[in-house]
Amino acid sequence: MLRHFLIPSFLILSSFSTPELDSAPFTDDPWDLDGPCQKYVEKFAYYQAEMVACATNWSIPPKVCTNCYQNYINFKTYEFETKNLNNVFSLDNRTCSQVIYDNYLLSYSSDISTALTSKIWEKSRCDSCVTITWSLHDNKSAPTFTDRTIQFQQRLYEWRNCVVNYTSGDVLDPKMVPNDPFLTPEDLKNSSKICNECKSEFDELYKFYWKIYTTPDVDFCVDVETTMNDTIHLWDDVWQCAERQDRNRDLFGIMVTFATLMLLTALFYAASYIQGGGQQRNLVRYSRLSDPRGQRSRLLSSGISDADLVHRFVSSTVPPIHQMR
Ligand SMILES: *[C@@H]1O[C@H](CO)[C@@H](O)[C@H](O)[C@H]1NC(C)=O
Ligand SMILES: *[C@@H]1O[C@H](CO)[C@@H](O)[C@H](O)[C@H]1NC(C)=O
Ligand SMILES: *[C@@H]1O[C@H](CO)[C@@H](O)[C@H](O)[C@H]1NC(C)=O
Ligand SMILES: *[C@@H]1O[C@H](CO)[C@@H](O)[C@H](O)[C@H]1NC(C)=O
Ligand SMILES: *[C@@H]1O[C@H](CO)[C@@H](O)[C@H](O)[C@H]1NC(C)=O
Ligand SMILES: *[C@@H]1O[C@H](CO)[C@@H](O)[C@H](O)[C@H]1NC(C)=O
Repeated sequence: MLRHFLIPSFLILSSFSTPELDSAPFTDDPWDLDGPCQKYVEKFAYYQAEMVACATNWSIPPKVCTNCYQNYINFKTYEFETKNLNNVFSLDNRTCSQVIYDNYLLSYSSDISTALTSKIWEKSRCDSCVTITWSLHDNKSAPTFTDRTIQFQQRLYEWRNCVVNYTSGDVLDPKMVPNDPFLTPEDLKNSSKICNECKSEFDELYKFYWKIYTTPDVDFCVDVETTMNDTIHLWDDVWQCAERQDRNRDLFGIMVTFATLMLLTALFYAASYIQGGGQQRNLVRYSRLSDPRGQRSRLLSSGISDADLVHRFVSSTVPPIHQMR
């Protein structure tokens, strides 16, 4: 009743005739001042939603650049269109671009676009992996992967192919995880085989990544970084390839420590043995003043040769020499 009352009054106020209202999209409600713009925001919503779905789908690990570039291009192309709706008007004769972006306190579509552009695409540094040659007005933007991204992928695939060679197909088969309590010796052999046989491929991949990573002003997008991160974790933590090498290193370390300990023990006993002899000799030296001949016979009985005596004498500490003089 209220509605019936208001529609005619609205029609009067708006100076638009009924046939024009009828030709508007049916999603328009007659109350909607922005009715003619509605279909554009609906289409915009679709392209935004596609991009959101893709980004969330590829969020663990974040790999938006290499998987969602087409959605991003579509979204950006349509965003461009919504910003250039200068020939379509709302009922109060504003352009639909004005209506979408400026008319209201909040513009959800604009905020979502900003988030998709700066929080997702730019924050992932996608430009480092995919260069898009924009041609927004005719929907002919073209993506190109950067050379370093292609090279990284080639090395990654070489390593993966090598790994696949030593598994029964399923790389992440629980059997390939050394921590698994049900591991048979055969399985264990396979997973250590991966470490040995694919080490050169892994090192190549890592070396290439590291070269780019440490070059100033040259960057990878987050996709590549996370891929490398996860590859390292797979290598180090799941197959424990680094640890295997560490274990060998540890064993070597233990052997060195043990050998050193043995040597020190031997030296200690040797030193205390000689030291013991030295103390005896100090006594001998005092006695020498009175009876050199008796000393010699005692020395011989203590098992120390003349040569030993001379050596110790020369290298002995200063005080005994003073005492001797
Ligand atoms: C979502 O991700 C999976 C792989 O993680 C992929 O197979 C699927 O095609 C993706 N779906 C969309 C809509 O991107
Ligand atoms: C651009 O063209 C592609 C097909 O080439 C189409 O799928 C896409 O929807 C178009 N995007 C826009 C915003 O019109
Ligand atoms: C809407 O504005 C344009 C110029 O901005 C003008 O030419 C046109 O007459 C206006 N239409 C109405 C219905 O006010
Ligand atoms: C896989 O193994 C076969 C035979 O051992 C070898 O000829 C081939 O080069 C390997 N492929 C890779 C990618 O390591
Ligand atoms: C171990 O590797 C061989 C090939 O080298 C493969 O046939 C076998 O299925 C692998 N075993 C497991 C548990 O992956
Ligand atoms: C890679 O891993 C390290 C530590 O695990 C983390 O701090 C870093 O943020 C990760 N990088 C990316 C791009 O995910």
